[in-house]
Amino acid sequence: MEKPVQYTVRNYSKGDEVAIAKIFSECFGPTTPRRIIQWYRSHGAHPEDIFVGVIDGKLVSSVEVVFKQLHHGEGVYLKTAGISGVCTDSDYRKRGIVSNLMKLALDYAQQKGVSNASLFTGLDIPAHRIYQRLGFVDITTGRTYIKYIDYPSIFARWLRLLNRSLKDSKIAVRKLEGWEKSVVIQLKEVGTLSFRFRKKRFQRLRKPPKRADIEFSTDLKTYTKIVRGVVQWEDAVNTDKLVVKRGEPAEVEMLKRILNWRWDD
Ligand SMILES: CC(C)(COP(=O)(O)OP(=O)(O)OC[C@H]1O[C@@H](n2cnc3c(N)ncnc32)[C@H](O)[C@@H]1OP(=O)(O)O)[C@@H](O)C(=O)NCCC(=O)NCCS
Repeated sequence: MEKPVQYTVRNYSKGDEVAIAKIFSECFGPTTPRRIIQWYRSHGAHPEDIFVGVIDGKLVSSVEVVFKQLHHGEGVYLKTAGISGVCTDSDYRKRGIVSNLMKLALDYAQQKGVSNASLFTGLDIPAHRIYQRLGFVDITTGRTYIKYIDYPSIFARWLRLLNRSLKDSKIAVRKLEGWEKSVVIQLKEVGTLSFRFRKKRFQRLRKPPKRADIEFSTDLKTYTKIVRGVVQWEDAVNTDKLVVKRGEPAEVEMLKRILNWRWDD
């Protein structure tokens, strides 16, 4: 059990966007204070809609309530308290901060006379346990489709994004320490893509290395679903949709985390 920690909670105040951009970069990928402000402005957020957790004067956690109209079809709308920006700095997780902030956010929504709360989230992530404990029920309201027209350019962009995220993700830096590997991905419809992680950076390789540390083949559909967390790597392997041709289990484990960019545990 972690040592109990003293934290305080309060609403957003001007200037918090700097610390919020920092923790969001770690939780959701690179962002800047300016983009945070733009996002708040885009939906007319008020300071009292944003709850933050503070330890020793440092902002370490946030939850926001975004009041929205949910469309139920045929011109019927329902006002809902959307829960957004759920994030805690990786050094301060598992101390109950987000659970507490979410309870405050839900009480606040109730005081505002809203009958329900909703949130949209990636599939199969640890945060779901918190949501379920707080009474959220998983409802599938629709499906999202994506089609890649030029996957190699998306792959290159993905590697650039990972490098940007590494600047802010202490947890990823910690986990990747010493993992200097090369990876070859054979995608049926696209061809061979490869990268390596060296000197704390991801590098795209124009030519696949003669002997990669990890090599696997699959189709673009399965790969897309794995990266988006819709299909588990193990299920793809068990159904022969993904074949690992080379790679020690521990190295493959780390690759799976890189693909999802998920580091909670
Ligand atoms: C998900 C996330 C927001 C949780 O934040 P957090 O402040 O660690 O949340 P809590 O401490 O309230 O709860 C986390 C876990 O710690 C446990 N915990 C709470 N207080 C604890 C304590 N004093 N000691 C040990 N464990 C504790 C909780 O029971 C919970 O357990 P669970 O893993 O069974 O759910 C954080 O991990 C995060 O930022 N993840 C990346 C971003 C993300 O996925 N956001 C959600 C997008 S939808």
